Amino acid sequence: MKVKLENLNALRLLNPGPLVLITSKYQGKSNIVTVAWTSPVSHEPPLVSISISTKRQSNIMIGNSKEFTINLPSFDLLDKVLICGSVSGKNVDKFKEAQLTQVSGKKISSPSIKECFAFIECKVVDSFLCGDHYLFIGEIVHAEIEKNFYREHLDLEKVKYINHLGGPYFTYPEKIIEKKR
Ligand SMILES: Cc1cc2nc3c(=O)[nH]c(=O)nc-3n(C[C@H](O)[C@H](O)[C@H](O)COP(=O)(O)O)c2cc1C
Repeated sequence: MKVKLENLNALRLLNPGPLVLITSKYQGKSNIVTVAWTSPVSHEPPLVSISISTKRQSNIMIGNSKEFTINLPSFDLLDKVLICGSVSGKNVDKFKEAQLTQVSGKKISSPSIKECFAFIECKVVDSFLCGDHYLFIGEIVHAEIEKNFYREHLDLEKVKYINHLGGPYFTYPEKIIEKKR
C-alpha cells in the first residue's frame, strides 16, 4: 500500500547530491548561500544546475555577475552550513559570521571557501525562472579537490559529505558498492 505524499514532500524523495555552499561576488562583496538543489546537467560541455529562490540575495549576485562557485563542505562543517543557510548576505558578511576563509577564485572572480574539501568554478550560460526559483546553468571552468580524496569517485573513508533529507534532517553516505552488469 502506498500513501499520498504532498508535492513538497515528493521533492524530498529526489535526494539530491551533496549539500553545497555557493559563493558569489558582485560589486566587490562576496557571499555564501547553502543550497541543496543542485544537479549535473551535461557531460560536454560540462554543465551543472543550481536552483536559487528569487528571494535570496545570492540570486541578485549570481544573476548579475554571471558566475558562481560550488563548494563542498564535509559533515563536520554542518553548523557553519546552517549559518549560511539562515541569514542573508544582504546585511551580514557570512564569511565572518560563519568563520570561513575566503580564497580568491582561480578562473572567475567569485571566491572559494578554504575549509571546504572541493570547489567547482562555474560561468552562468543560461538561467530560467522556474516557479519561485531561478535555475542557473553553469559551465564548469575549473575544479579542485583535496589531494587523495578522489579516485574514480569520492573516497568516503576520507571524507563524509552532507546529504540534506529536507527540513532539519541530514545524513551522509558511507558505503561504496562496485557493481557492473
Ligand atoms: C539545508 C538547507 C538547504 C537549502 N537549500 C536551498 C536551495 O536549494 N535553494 C535556495 O534558494 N535556498 C536554499 N536554502 C536557503 C538559503 O540558504 C537561505 O535562505 C540563505 O539565508 C539565503 O542567503 P542569501 O540571501 O545571502 O542568498 C537552504 C537552506 C538550508 C539550511
